[in-house]
Amino acid sequence: MAKFVIENSGPLHGEVEISGSKNAILPIMAAALLSEEPCEISDAPALRDVDVMCRLLRSIGSNVKEDYDNHKVTIHTGKITEFEAPYDLVTLMRASILVTGPLLARTGKARIALPGGCAIGDRPIDLHLKGFQALGAEIEKSHGYVEAKVDKLIGGKVYLDFPSVGATENIMTAAVLAEGHTIIENAAEEPEIVDLANFLNKMGAKIKGAGTDTIRIEGVSRLHGANHTVIPDRIETGTFMIAAAITRGSVLLKNVVPDHVKPVIAKLRECGAVVEDLDEGMLVRGDVNPLISTDIKTMPYPGFPTDMQPQFMAFLTTVQGCSIIVETIFENRYMHVGELNRMGADIKIEGRSAVIPGGKKLLGAQVISTDLRAGAAMVLAGLTGEGPTEVSEIYHIERGYEDFVKKFNRLGAKIYRVDE
Ligand code: EPZ
Repeated sequence: MAKFVIENSGPLHGEVEISGSKNAILPIMAAALLSEEPCEISDAPALRDVDVMCRLLRSIGSNVKEDYDNHKVTIHTGKITEFEAPYDLVTLMRASILVTGPLLARTGKARIALPGGCAIGDRPIDLHLKGFQALGAEIEKSHGYVEAKVDKLIGGKVYLDFPSVGATENIMTAAVLAEGHTIIENAAEEPEIVDLANFLNKMGAKIKGAGTDTIRIEGVSRLHGANHTVIPDRIETGTFMIAAAITRGSVLLKNVVPDHVKPVIAKLRECGAVVEDLDEGMLVRGDVNPLISTDIKTMPYPGFPTDMQPQFMAFLTTVQGCSIIVETIFENRYMHVGELNRMGADIKIEGRSAVIPGGKKLLGAQVISTDLRAGAAMVLAGLTGEGPTEVSEIYHIERGYEDFVKKFNRLGAKIYRVDE
């Protein structure tokens, strides 16, 4: 297994180019199944999760070309030959379940391995299934799989008890080929939902309201191929914003949509960091003012993103004053707290709240990357730790951040990838 060895790097300086969004491209790749014509996706990040989605699409019958030198993935599904998202791929990547909506829409059947829990929580798919049933599908669970089938999807109305990102995406991709009108109420409003809707509308779908809590879809009989450039990754953006702040450096982020990271900008400014939206990109400085504490509550978009909670916590351990974080989205997204405490953070958990005393000089230690974003948080902590930090289980990190070490080291970080 490989690990990262990180040394105290001092303030980071320079420019970093943000890659295409992992959480935008995965549902868009799945949605390409909806047409028998080719779709070309640009600004595709070279990630393990994208590889897994390519493998899954090939197993369903797609002809997939990955051209990471030019950041392009082309998907051509002339004929669907398999209707299953197998257990080994779903356990490797939960987003595999996003092929369910397109399979149902195009073929009337899908057999999906129930994704088990993961480090951050139970991750049920009840809202996905509720949506498919609202469109007329019959759902049967057996032996760890869900079988969905329908002669013809019929438009319907579904209220999401929680604005689930994945459920909104899966229901949208099923409804675009349903007969009649579909309304999704209490829908997720994330930028990745808007990007998916834009791609589907380019294919000839009729979707209105993406980005609000009510999405209306007029079903059409078929969808043609389309070319699409995915949005920049707002969580990679936030991660590098924290890198500038936690090292008291000054970093210019390029290929950024400031609107997509408003909560992270607002909270960093509350802590005294300087964030400037310039023509050439977004400048983040942690070296202007003394940095102080703030409180964070994770919420569905446009609230503070749960995927930025671990990284922001690592930063708050180093500022003056006590901060409180409340994680409202996932029930177990504090696995990184024990690892940060190994570095001297002294964080305490009270139910859904984490109390971060702050004012710490973190001490380098051997720590584990318990999930994708927790792993990024441990690297950020290692950049400021006294003495080397070793982060193991780094496959979590490499599934979601393109050229992770290269980008950090170009900013002056000292991160070494070591194969154990
Ligand atoms: C997406 O996961 C993201 N993944 C996650 O990013 C992100 O943390 C999450 O949205 C929330 O923003 C991708 O886009 C590939 P949800 P998803 O359905 O769709 C509950 C990362 O680090 N829920 O919005 O699985 C669920 O238990 C990953 O890039 C149900 O109860 O998230 C959770 O508490 C981690 N029933 C909450 O909703 C359901 O049917 C949010 O889940 C579905 C979800």
